[in-house]
Amino acid sequence: MKKKLMTCLLLCLPIFAHAASGVHLEKADINLENKDSLRAGAKLFVNYCLSCHSASFMRYNRMAKDLSMSDDQVEQNLMFIANFEKLESGEAKKIGDLMSVAMKTKDAKQYFGTPVPDLTAVARARGADWLYSYLTSFYADENRPFGVNNTVFPGVGMPHVLVEMDGLKKLVSKDDHGKPTFEYIEKGSMSDVEFKRAMNDLVNFMVYMGEPIKLKRQSVGIFVMFFLIVFFLFAYLLKKEYWKDVH
Ligand code: HEC
Repeated sequence: MKKKLMTCLLLCLPIFAHAASGVHLEKADINLENKDSLRAGAKLFVNYCLSCHSASFMRYNRMAKDLSMSDDQVEQNLMFIANFEKLESGEAKKIGDLMSVAMKTKDAKQYFGTPVPDLTAVARARGADWLYSYLTSFYADENRPFGVNNTVFPGVGMPHVLVEMDGLKKLVSKDDHGKPTFEYIEKGSMSDVEFKRAMNDLVNFMVYMGEPIKLKRQSVGIFVMFFLIVFFLFAYLLKKEYWKDVH
């Protein structure tokens, strides 16, 4: 019994460790059924993230299919950054290509002092709430090389690439749970609510990208449950039939 208790306590340790890290995470509202949100997120992702980060386990045409877009729509609206940089051979990217970038790891290390991670599965590694909080927590800090820091990822090497929408904020205070309060130094093109909604769309898309099959798995799951209920009914009737003469 003692052993079991100890094991339970040890298993709970990561929860306490997380709570003690003093990082406050906002909740992201993830809904993979919402195709409009996924499409809006995809647009933000290819426009603002794909120039540095890759998503090299995802293909453009797979995304087109899952997000109910035609290949033409994706080629015209979501591939111009990819084609702007072009492949090393000078050839434009094709709809069946992976969402990789032209920036080489060596160059990225030189520009940012750290490699730029691939983002295909980042939502699975970090979690949706972490990503949402990260993207909405950039603040001005003149001690950092790019003039910004982040409450969720202190000392981050990424510039605030969405500053034009988000505006520039300063960190006023943090409460006992690490929840930050920001104040605008300069407003961006979006209000606070609009920016948070846009970031929620972006995170929604990144959650989909981390596990595209999730969309399908849920509908298959419902079908399987339904099948099991019907099957149970028949199995039960059959059992009654077999046992009816046994006394
Ligand atoms: C100018 C290049 C650049 C652009 C554009 C950019 N990033 Fe980054 N990003 C970086 C660098 C560099 C790092 C590594 C930071 C570090 O480790 O300190 C990073 C790190 C991250 C991380 C943390 C990954 C991890 O698990 O450690 C996330 C998440 C992320 N970026 C998301 C995004 C999203 C979403 C966008 C688009 C809105 C974006 N980035 C656009 C350069 C960029």
